[in-house]
Amino acid sequence: MTEEPIFSLRNRWFTTAVAVTAGIAVVSATVGFLWLPTLQADARLAGMWDAICSAAGIVRAAPNESLVVQGTYQTSGVIAFPETMENASAISIGRGATLALPCTVCHGARGLSEADSPNLAGQYPLAIFKQLVDYKSGARVNAIMSPRVAGMSDQDMRDLAAYYAYLPRLPGQHPATAGATPRIVESGAPMRNIAPCATCHGSVDYKAGSAWLEGQSPVYLAAQLRAFATGARHNDINQQMRNIARGMSSAEIDQAAQYYAGQP
Ligand code: HEC
Ligand code: HEC
Repeated sequence: MTEEPIFSLRNRWFTTAVAVTAGIAVVSATVGFLWLPTLQADARLAGMWDAICSAAGIVRAAPNESLVVQGTYQTSGVIAFPETMENASAISIGRGATLALPCTVCHGARGLSEADSPNLAGQYPLAIFKQLVDYKSGARVNAIMSPRVAGMSDQDMRDLAAYYAYLPRLPGQHPATAGATPRIVESGAPMRNIAPCATCHGSVDYKAGSAWLEGQSPVYLAAQLRAFATGARHNDINQQMRNIARGMSSAEIDQAAQYYAGQP
């Protein structure tokens, strides 16, 4: 019996096997590098070479700005450091006092609201400044506040923050509904990744940019927590508050709002 050499073009089995393998490779390359890339919903491919590079994971220079994926909403552009806005000058505070005259209607003559607008007296200056900048940029949207900051300069917002931060904190208008500290406030919810509120909001430790909550209107507090939870308010840097509010139950939101409103 004569043995045919295996690797020979005259061996029908060898040529067929090579041809089939090569065929599979060509078909898979066409599907993987050309066809599948064009099926992606957000593919913006300029041609065949673009599709191949995209499938191979090669970073291509974006040909123009429109290819850069943008968020669907405005995020906060404020960079918050603990020392931002410290040591305001007397001039800044004085200027802020003048600028604050139209604000008194809602935020009170001494920064203490008699309704459900937030109190500003004694608020951290960075918290006030950040919110004003966010209303101006559209990162936080409110029908009442947004138009009021539209024409403000950066210095105006710094002066207003300096002035309100300089005012003494006063007992809130929302008398204590004295009760035990709710669990969510006292110890957070470790299993849901919620730290105790006071570790960021000032009474234990302070996370730059967060607000003093004590004495605030319960209606306002609960509304803000619900807005964070649904994402309607989304100006918190790195979703710090959205992640917390999303993990809170509706009852916990009400308890926390009542608790903080009742604090002096
Ligand atoms: C017509 C009433 C009204 C006037 C006038 C007004 N505000 Fe407000 N302000 C509000 C309300 C209501 C909110 C809460 C809005 C929200 O839910 O986003 C608010 C929110 C704010 C906040 C955010 C507070 C926080 O804790 O997040 C700041 C800061 C602020 N106002 C500053 C000002 C300044 C400074 C002026 C004057 C230039 C002013 N406001 C004028 C009603 C008013
Ligand atoms: C990891 C830190 C952190 C923890 C923990 C935290 N917060 Fe916040 N919170 C923030 C920051 C930062 C902001 C400011 C967001 C922004 O930039 O607008 C904020 C904003 C808020 C506001 C809006 C205040 C205003 O006037 O605009 C409320 C209300 C609030 N937090 C309630 C709570 C409650 C209640 C808890 C506890 C269940 C809590 N937070 C726990 C960081 C925290």
